[in-house]
Amino acid sequence: MEYKILGATGLRVSVVGMGAWQLGSVDVASAHRLLDMSYDAGVNLIDTASGYDESEDHIGAWDAAKKQRSVIATKAHAPQGCTPADIIASIDRSLMRLRVEMIDLLQLHSPGIETASRDDVFGALEQARQAGKICFACISEDAPTAQACLEAQPYAVLQTDYSMITLYPERSLLAYAQAHGVGVIAREVFGRFIFDREPWYWWEEPMKARSDQMQMLAWFARHADYSRAELTLRFVLANPQVHVALLGTANPDHLAENLAIAERGALPADLLGDFRAWVAAHPADGL
Ligand SMILES: NC(=O)c1ccc[n+]([C@@H]2O[C@H](COP(=O)([O-])OP(=O)(O)OC[C@H]3O[C@@H](n4cnc5c(N)ncnc54)[C@H](OP(=O)(O)O)[C@@H]3O)[C@@H](O)[C@H]2O)c1
Repeated sequence: MEYKILGATGLRVSVVGMGAWQLGSVDVASAHRLLDMSYDAGVNLIDTASGYDESEDHIGAWDAAKKQRSVIATKAHAPQGCTPADIIASIDRSLMRLRVEMIDLLQLHSPGIETASRDDVFGALEQARQAGKICFACISEDAPTAQACLEAQPYAVLQTDYSMITLYPERSLLAYAQAHGVGVIAREVFGRFIFDREPWYWWEEPMKARSDQMQMLAWFARHADYSRAELTLRFVLANPQVHVALLGTANPDHLAENLAIAERGALPADLLGDFRAWVAAHPADGL
């Protein structure tokens, strides 16, 4: 497993992290099996959220020593109109469910620019940090809004969507994060569409418009004799401005496959070059 330093936090993190959204809807034994698999492969970052059903509880009940050696990232809901007390209450609940004394990365969960830029909201995170409840004040936000959030408040780590079919962060977001020492965690690296599934949620609908990119991925996968999962994960791993790519799956076979892919590292330079040439010839909305 390769490791990187997560921006200015100084934390040494594995280049792939466990996306624990999917752990929220499986039983505790299955969740622990998946956590053990990723831990044994060297994964040391786990991303969950207060809103991921049983996910925090399952992580809380996991092996204490393994948890101690992992970077735990969770999220607090911060809807419009939320108060600092709401955020502190969410953090306290996460501490209890995760059974840890301190949360390494506390991310506001898709707050939007208005909430993310509020001084009292960031102040609540700072208050929690000073009280020893969290280590770093962070944010999870969609790529088009994320840079404005980083410009408004000094979030230490950003989690955002980035993949071969979501190149938007390359416009300026990733360079901004790098220049300001912000750690970057990529989510939705696979995206359900690369596996030819129907969208589950309304926010996935716009991805339907990216059919030219999907055709490209299908062609590229055949051309390169790689699976689409391998292409997109190794594409993200090739970007030095991204520190962690989350692996979201509740399927042990898929997790094993993804962990093996991660061991093969960044996409080779000739394939990256072919991809960049394709992108240059097909300027699309998602870029
Ligand atoms: N707003 C936010 O903060 C936010 C939003 C989204 C996600 N996240 C975080 O990011 C993590 C990952 O995001 P995500 O789950 O939305 O997107 P993702 O990782 O891009 O996609 C996950 C989907 O891909 C499938 N998959 C994974 N590996 C596969 C393989 N090798 N072959 C076939 N199918 C495969 C999984 O299904 P199976 O289970 O069937 O394998 C799952 O449905 C989440 O767990 C969560 O921690 C955060």
